[in-house]
Amino acid sequence: MLKQKDPKTFFIRTYGCQMNELDTEIMIGQLEKKGLQRVHTEEEGDILIYNTCSIRDLAERKVMGKLGVLGRAKTRNKIIGITGCMAMAKKETLFKKMPHLDFVLGTNNLSNLESVLDEVLHTGKQTAMLDKKYEEDLDYLLAKRESKVKAHVSIIRGCDKYCTYCVVPYTRGREVSRHYNDIVEEVKQLVDGGYKEITVLGQNVNSYGKDQKDWNVLFHDLLEKIDQTGIERVRFLTSHPVDITKNLMEAIRDLPSLCEFVHFPMQAGNNRILRKMHRIYTMEEYLEKVEMLKEIVPNVALGTDMIVGFPTETDEEFEDTYKNMELVDYHVAFLYSFSPRKGTPAMRFRDDIPEEVKQERLHRLMDLHKRAGNNHRTQLIDQTVEVLFEGRTSNGMLKGRTRCWKKAIAHGPDSLIGQIANVKVESFLHETLIGSLT
Ligand code: SAM
Ligand code: SF4
Ligand code: F3S
Repeated sequence: MLKQKDPKTFFIRTYGCQMNELDTEIMIGQLEKKGLQRVHTEEEGDILIYNTCSIRDLAERKVMGKLGVLGRAKTRNKIIGITGCMAMAKKETLFKKMPHLDFVLGTNNLSNLESVLDEVLHTGKQTAMLDKKYEEDLDYLLAKRESKVKAHVSIIRGCDKYCTYCVVPYTRGREVSRHYNDIVEEVKQLVDGGYKEITVLGQNVNSYGKDQKDWNVLFHDLLEKIDQTGIERVRFLTSHPVDITKNLMEAIRDLPSLCEFVHFPMQAGNNRILRKMHRIYTMEEYLEKVEMLKEIVPNVALGTDMIVGFPTETDEEFEDTYKNMELVDYHVAFLYSFSPRKGTPAMRFRDDIPEEVKQERLHRLMDLHKRAGNNHRTQLIDQTVEVLFEGRTSNGMLKGRTRCWKKAIAHGPDSLIGQIANVKVESFLHETLIGSLT
């Protein structure tokens, strides 16, 4: 069946993390600028784009399953493209696996989206553009954001940390900071557009500026510049513990816009495993930093990512992870079991922890985290929290997040959507605080 020659609509689906969400928003902006109309079902789309993730096996299998289904005759005349981390991990081999695929676009080639489409339309050939090391010409201002209240802002792309389990340094390339003037300009435009909250994004935001010594602007300096734009709330994602500095902790204490929440991913609580993961800190160093942060910002809430069942992790070593997770008392925790990734150093270690042991360890951490969460929410009852309302729940209540990233709901007028208001917490259901406006 012949492919579309004059596409008018596009459908895009995002898998993975916030970087992919932002990349999707930029691609939507590019395609709409080209005159294409976004649609929300695959049936209606002349072009179908899948912005993919490679972080764990399950993430890849979801996309491969989806694309297998798209091989059906019904979608054969559509132009189908893969972007994102799986495009970088699997490159042109995707064409062999999926003959109906038309293009593969790399994570640093977003600005080539138009040219890759033109190439496919003119030649009818499968086309890959994956070669750029860094996207110097990417127009971030094209991002077409879904929310009118909060926005992601990219400040640094790539990762130089090379944790042994992780594909990201291979799928996103080296760390390259975006110029601070461009970042500040984008935030100012968001403030003018009525946005109340931004999350500055990077795989390791606290490396900001280290690759551009002559700028003399490090992460905490950038946050200070952003604070001066008048944006009400600033969050950042994600951090590497090694690069969390005292300057950053003081910035959280001193800058009114900066929310008192730090994602401080421990990954594992045992020194041998941390070394094998190439996390470049010991548990002692990690805990010392946590203590310093809690001293400087007493009301800080911490988040973490944890991996259980890393190759050779013994029961005792897992107990260290459990104990240290309990000790730090995280407010947010993303918990994973180890998934071997092709091309990473950990692939050379034998994935020797049986699946049922991984699952048992995972469930222990989940239970621990559930208990910690209930404690934190109980402690908030009768307290007043500041909530940025983003919309309404299905039963008509205002919903939003506190500065510490807790979900909160309350009855109130439409005029509060997009505004920050104080809420007195009365109870909670699952992870959501329920309260009244004060
Ligand atoms: N740069 C961030 C960091 O270091 O926190 C985010 C990295 S990744 C997008 C999010 C999380 O996925 C990691 O923190 C890690 O816990 C988890 N992860 C990465 N590779 C993994 C793997 N091979 N198996 C299981 N979990 C993995
Ligand atoms: Fe992956 Fe480690 Fe980089 Fe995070 S810091 S993206 S876990 S290599
Ligand atoms: Fe996935 Fe790539 Fe993000 S691997 S988690 S989409 S950086």
